[in-house]
Amino acid sequence: MNNFVYDIPTKVYFGENQLGNLGPELSKYGKKVLLTYGGGSIKKIGLYDKVVEEIKKAGLELFELSGIDPNPRVSSVNAGADICKREGIDVLLAVGGGSVIDCTKYIGAAAYYDGDAWDILLKKTPVEQCLPIVTVLTLSATGSEMDSGGVISNPETNDKIGLLFPVMQPKVSFLDPTVTYSVNRYQTACGAADIMSHIIEVYFNMNQDLYMLDTVMEGLMKTVIKYTPVALAEPDNYEARANLMWASSWAINGFVNGGKRHAWSCHPMEHELSAFYDITHGLGLAILTPRWMGYTLDEKTIGKFVQYGVNVFGIDPTLPQMEIAQQGIERLKAFFFETLGLQSTLTEIDIDDTHFGLMAEKAAELGATKYAFRPLAAEDIEKIYRMCL
Ligand code: NZQ
Ligand code: ZN
Repeated sequence: MNNFVYDIPTKVYFGENQLGNLGPELSKYGKKVLLTYGGGSIKKIGLYDKVVEEIKKAGLELFELSGIDPNPRVSSVNAGADICKREGIDVLLAVGGGSVIDCTKYIGAAAYYDGDAWDILLKKTPVEQCLPIVTVLTLSATGSEMDSGGVISNPETNDKIGLLFPVMQPKVSFLDPTVTYSVNRYQTACGAADIMSHIIEVYFNMNQDLYMLDTVMEGLMKTVIKYTPVALAEPDNYEARANLMWASSWAINGFVNGGKRHAWSCHPMEHELSAFYDITHGLGLAILTPRWMGYTLDEKTIGKFVQYGVNVFGIDPTLPQMEIAQQGIERLKAFFFETLGLQSTLTEIDIDDTHFGLMAEKAAELGATKYAFRPLAAEDIEKIYRMCL
């Protein structure tokens, strides 16, 4: 087991009726609050009114930035940072899914920078400060509520870049499963695929000595496989929504890394799909992940596939190893494309091979390095994209 540092400094209020703590938590950081949200789902479900009421009850001054898009744009980051500088904002309150939370993280960082926020993504300027961030999560998927990462798109250059900065870690997150009852079938399914992928990116590595964490990750994957169909059938099933919500946070908050030497593979490939075609992140991952698995399965990697097939899907351990591995991949496909009902190919979502060469080169630069389960060069990535057609 390698050395590592465990430090996940987000305070979580989990469950129903916890918003009474919102005002006191925000007040710890000052008086002026910038509330950030997306296209209006929080108004439809009555969450906006509740949040505003808590802010007013606490005597805080409210400012707003709305209209943050899925695959959030750098233009929203710049707009938010301008408000922070102009109004002297003390604390940011992100109410939404991963897109709103990610955008808010960079707003907090850009508030301390005088240029275009895109410079931060291009690593032209260091991020050493960020305004304090409080989140109210409304969609179980990205884990942004409990990690220090964020992904921002620049449609002008077809770029989508994700970075991690410890100062962007939310101070407090409110996780109320009931606010996810309104998440539709498609977003629930895409969220589940994203959670699965976050675990798979770490689980499939060449470290052999982390039984404890492997077991945790198998449990997280089984949780998603068990409860997503329940949430699809009964959107207001508390047990299902609660299990998915907590799994989404723990899949990516750093705990399962445990010093493993690993590099992510499917996320860099997916971010290029989203950058060029503005597709939903989880959908891209669902299409890519089983193909990536098929591409990486060989004599060297088979052991992990067998462990996954047996422990996650309960495949008969007495079968030949290759059969277990292949059945495991097929079971994941069935989960994504039959149980969750997601589209199964890039062709179905009108993506052809026009940009594969460039996307593969960019993805190879972003990740899949020497610590990857199987290091991927641009040629490998292009082949995987073609397997998805
Ligand atoms: O914009 P609104 O009106 O809020 O509607 C959203 C949006 O249309 C809707 N929604 C959210 N909560 C809802 C709801 N609709 C009804 N009821 C609710 N309670 O769902 C749509 C998608 O929202 P979005 O925030 O885009 O989804 P998600 O949480 O999947 O976030 C995706 C973004 O996060 C990035 C992705 O790349 C993508 O840009 N990621 C962030 C990560 C991180 N910070 O660690 C890691 C991930 O791997 C991922 O890359
Ligand atoms: Zn993801």
